[in-house]
Amino acid sequence: MDSIKLNDKKAIPPLGFGVFMVPDDGTCEKAVSGALAAGYRLIDTAAAYMNEQGVGRAIRHSGIDREEVYVTSKLWIQDYGYKAAKKGIDRSLENLGLDYIDLYLIHQPYGDVAGAWKAMEEAVQEGKLRSIGVSNHTVRLLGEILPKMEILPAVDQVECNPYCQQRELRKYMARYGIRTEAWYPLGHGDKKLMTDPVLTALAEKCGKDVGQVILRWHLQEGIIPLPKATSDSHIRGNIDIFDFALSDADMAAIAALDTGKGTHDPEDPANAQRLSAFRIHD
Ligand SMILES: NC(=O)c1ccc[n+]([C@@H]2O[C@H](COP(=O)([O-])OP(=O)(O)OC[C@H]3O[C@@H](n4cnc5c(N)ncnc54)[C@H](OP(=O)(O)O)[C@@H]3O)[C@@H](O)[C@H]2O)c1
Repeated sequence: MDSIKLNDKKAIPPLGFGVFMVPDDGTCEKAVSGALAAGYRLIDTAAAYMNEQGVGRAIRHSGIDREEVYVTSKLWIQDYGYKAAKKGIDRSLENLGLDYIDLYLIHQPYGDVAGAWKAMEEAVQEGKLRSIGVSNHTVRLLGEILPKMEILPAVDQVECNPYCQQRELRKYMARYGIRTEAWYPLGHGDKKLMTDPVLTALAEKCGKDVGQVILRWHLQEGIIPLPKATSDSHIRGNIDIFDFALSDADMAAIAALDTGKGTHDPEDPANAQRLSAFRIHD
């Protein structure tokens, strides 16, 4: 698994493992332990997933060198603004039981993002965070925030899969070397996507399953996918994508599946209101 260079010159694995909605009742620790054993080296969590502790436990118990595992977490809206972000970063470090986080993201584009970003930039200087980035930022939202930043975001983690390919955003971000990370890389397991006839035919041709074809498409597009899986077969299967390649014609067939929209519009004021009301601590 060759790593990818970010715009801050730091290396990141090309594929990750996400733990959104994986409860911290032992399930998260078990899933991350399984993922590490299967060979994943990038784990994607967030303060708002309430499972940073389980991720930290799995990493500590894995016996794998800390430097070998790439940990991403995200600051929640409640902790935006300069002062609150400083505390939020320390809370993530404490929950994870780590003395640095490889990549830390602004989870949502609402509230005092600029103040939070300043705290994140300082945490980079202090060695608490290695790389910093954003999530759920559209072209318009990036256009607003980039001039206020001293360190450019290394990534923007957005909804992305063959039905929602984010072509305009990816073209815009390429100017700044901002890498796309994909959430819902498998459409959250969407049945229509997972049984799409074009993808099913490619899976048959390649001797792989549809999930593996989709993840291979992400890799060949230069997108870092963060599939989530709790079943052992999915955990193991989703990393078994380095022994085949999609041809130019295969990639063109998948390009034609783009609908230009996903399930979540970060610019919808209703989403801003709903997510801003979600609290993760007192
Ligand atoms: N930044 C953000 O705002 C944001 C938002 C959402 C998600 N995320 C990140 O993105 C990650 C992925 O998102 P997600 O978990 O919602 O969606 P996903 O990875 O697209 O889909 C996960 C679902 O697909 C199933 N699955 C996994 N591999 C499969 C395969 N090979 N074939 C068929 N089904 C398969 C899983 O089932 P099993 O569990 O049964 O194996 C699970 O139900 C999250 O965990 C999180 O880290 C970030």
